[in-house]
Amino acid sequence: MTGQHLLSVDDLGREGIAEVLRVADAFAEVERRSIPKVPTLRGRVVATLFFEESTRTRWSFETAAKRLSADVLSFSAASSSVKKGESLRDTVETIVAMGIDAVVVRHPSSGAPHQVAGWIGDRSHVLNAGDGWHEHPTQALLDCFTVRQVLAERRGESPAGIECFEGLRVLVVGDVRHSRVARSQVLAYHALGAEVTLAAPGSLLPPSLEGWPVTVAADFDRALGDAQVVSLLRLQTERGSGAFVPSLREYTAGWGLTNSRVRSLADDVIVTHPGPMVRGVEIAGDVADLPVTVATLQVTNGVAVRMAVLFLLLGAAGGSVPSVPAGERQEAAAHGEDPEGAKVSAGG
Ligand code: CP
Repeated sequence: MTGQHLLSVDDLGREGIAEVLRVADAFAEVERRSIPKVPTLRGRVVATLFFEESTRTRWSFETAAKRLSADVLSFSAASSSVKKGESLRDTVETIVAMGIDAVVVRHPSSGAPHQVAGWIGDRSHVLNAGDGWHEHPTQALLDCFTVRQVLAERRGESPAGIECFEGLRVLVVGDVRHSRVARSQVLAYHALGAEVTLAAPGSLLPPSLEGWPVTVAADFDRALGDAQVVSLLRLQTERGSGAFVPSLREYTAGWGLTNSRVRSLADDVIVTHPGPMVRGVEIAGDVADLPVTVATLQVTNGVAVRMAVLFLLLGAAGGSVPSVPAGERQEAAAHGEDPEGAKVSAGG
């Protein structure tokens, strides 16, 4: 990763995505240790700046930063001086003035993290944790990581490469129009060589697909049967999706992964969902609990992937983490950290 910030999957390209996945492999291994913590970012400060609700992304970034031994500051607009009228710019300047090393931004406005990055320049690092309808790059990265992991395990491959994505048939289903996850997924899967198809009612497709490297399914049920990966999206009701479908019941009947539709899936399909899931709408409750649905594994992998992006942005100057001096190894152990984790290298 060469840039100062992670705002879009486009900041990475194919090689950058592959690097994140490789480094995340190493951090997934750290997570399996008895003490899943390494001193890599000790002394660095990561702030999560969330102007919109989140469970997974906020906790995942905060867990990742803590496992790298960074100090974590958690900002919530609802309990901040934003409520007194402070602007986004003044909020950001205040945070950066405290010497914060990275700011993880979620905002309901598309482009807000780009604006923040423009103000911050090289004084800190900005990571996009989801902006409006625009992008959610770390979600797409953890989705790719999970698909690659499942395919590699099935095929007995270790280490996993990115060749598994070549020609992989990925079907993205649901509210594409309002989904930042879909936009990042399309960029990531396409960059890795997958064939992406969209399935949605016309009202929930973007007004224009010009420049999107996708096809649109003519027959949803046939496309489901043909897919190797089915990526389900939630109806983004907070972004007005309810007005784009006649009723939830009709949406589910036409586009939900219902119990009856599961029968048309390929035996070895992988079903992903970024969460939060709305059981009974885009996915039947029983289907969410089937082994083919990997939503929980995605959450687990999100921590390793976010450790990787924090490491690559903040800690990997020169391509690898400096080895831990002997004195620090004892200190790390005293802090309950695993000093071996510092051997994680960007080279994989
Ligand atoms: N997938 C996702 O972004 O979930 P949260 O909104 O809970 O962070």
